[in-house]
Amino acid sequence: MRRFAFHCDLEKVEKIYSDVVIVGSGIAGLYTALNVDDHLFCVIFSKDKKEACNTYLAQGGIAAVTQKDDSFEFHYKDTLYAGAGLCDEEAVRVLVTEGPREIKRLISFGIHFDMDDNCNLHATREGGHTRNRILHCGGDATGKEVVQKLTGLVVNKPNVTLKDDICLIDIITHRGRAEGVLVYEKGYKLYISPNIVICSGGIGQIYQYTTNSQSATGDGIAAAIRAGAKCENMEFVQFHPTALFQTDTSQRFFLISEAVRGEGGILRNVKGERFMVTQHPMGDLAPRDIVAREIFKEIQKSNTSHVYLDITSKSKHFLMQRFPTIYHECKKRDIDISKQWIPVCPVQHYFMGGVKTDLNGMSSIVGLYVCGEAACTGVHGANRLASNSLLEGLVFSRRCAQHINRQAQSLKSFVSHINTIQYNDCTDKKILQEINTAAIRQKIKEVMSKYGGIIRNQKGLSAGLEIIDEILAQFENAYLSTPKDIEAFNMAIIAKKVLVSALRRKQCVGAHYRDDIIQHKEEKVC
Ligand code: SIN
Repeated sequence: MRRFAFHCDLEKVEKIYSDVVIVGSGIAGLYTALNVDDHLFCVIFSKDKKEACNTYLAQGGIAAVTQKDDSFEFHYKDTLYAGAGLCDEEAVRVLVTEGPREIKRLISFGIHFDMDDNCNLHATREGGHTRNRILHCGGDATGKEVVQKLTGLVVNKPNVTLKDDICLIDIITHRGRAEGVLVYEKGYKLYISPNIVICSGGIGQIYQYTTNSQSATGDGIAAAIRAGAKCENMEFVQFHPTALFQTDTSQRFFLISEAVRGEGGILRNVKGERFMVTQHPMGDLAPRDIVAREIFKEIQKSNTSHVYLDITSKSKHFLMQRFPTIYHECKKRDIDISKQWIPVCPVQHYFMGGVKTDLNGMSSIVGLYVCGEAACTGVHGANRLASNSLLEGLVFSRRCAQHINRQAQSLKSFVSHINTIQYNDCTDKKILQEINTAAIRQKIKEVMSKYGGIIRNQKGLSAGLEIIDEILAQFENAYLSTPKDIEAFNMAIIAKKVLVSALRRKQCVGAHYRDDIIQHKEEKVC
């Protein structure tokens, strides 16, 4: 695979120096920026409008131990159980024990979590949780509240500059150290920095059916792969059981939060029968991978496109207050959820794999940190426990910022060293052909949905890999002139990693399910 996506003479590109460069402005990027010491100059890039990032779209909430009947041990065990035995236990310990502290800090920043009648934090339940511990804002608008408040704080921090419409192209390394990022900012610019933090989010756009925003094309992970960073758990793609069914696959799917089931919602097949109660001891609130697979099977059995989520047991008043976003979005589509069942289907939602990091967000490349969905800290194992992702974004990006604060190399000494780099080493000289990346994007989506989805097997994965390899071969000498072209290259790189890892994992575990391998009976709930 070619080392760089760009083809320009780096010697001639405008260079900007910064103590810290953060790529991505979801919860992980914003929280890193907030926690970087005030004397370190920090620039943070946003690829799209803030409303477009996955954090902003998050409905359910943030899982954290705040209730009397809950404990770190319960949260720890639930996370390990959902992760199907593949979580990094030390990372999970850090996540659950440091989580509540970050919630307190968010509250001190003015983030308004919903309260119960006694003015305590209201906590609900989602799939895989044995206790009520999901905190939420504005009913089902948690991500919106968090992004708005954190963005406000970041833009007012004198040492931080937030820049919109910036697309990451490549991570520049020298003698095994990350030294800068090449970005597209109305033309190429090279940001040189001893501390690069990738918080670019997930990969949902490699699938036809996803809840993810258009910008989730795995840019940071793919650029890190080209730079030689180690990745892990790339086969583990999470499908959310209940997206609102729609026929138009060109738009992202609207999520119906698991919290709807947490508040009493029931899954029914097209005949109106409940099916989860017979499949798992936790019934409709079984871990997400199990529910998604059971829905998929129901859909195949009945030869339809969806099942139903029934929350008609709740009043219109309750639903409008508790789930205003969902209520209004369904209403726009002529579904009154207080009277009608909601048609739902499983779609891609989250990526458990990513760039392997340690407990401080450090990747295998010195100077390159990764946080949020782009990182694989190991907390999610083979299947993420619902609402642990925003918590992971908070806990590990704060640790990452603190590590940078402790290590901060002076920019001056870094700059004098970096001036010795021969940038023309990076220039790719054999760029020849133009390619149709719009058609390639579509092909990748089709291949991944058909062969790399909820249920996989060797034959399909191999067939998919053959097509993706042909696509990657086209990219070898391709002239990638726009950020969209580079996104397509990134999507192909990620698709290949997912398929190769899925082929290697000859086992059904968590979100990775192969129907050509005998499945051990789903473990019983602990
Ligand atoms: C949801 O609200 O169901 C999604 C929350 C999550 O992805 O953790």
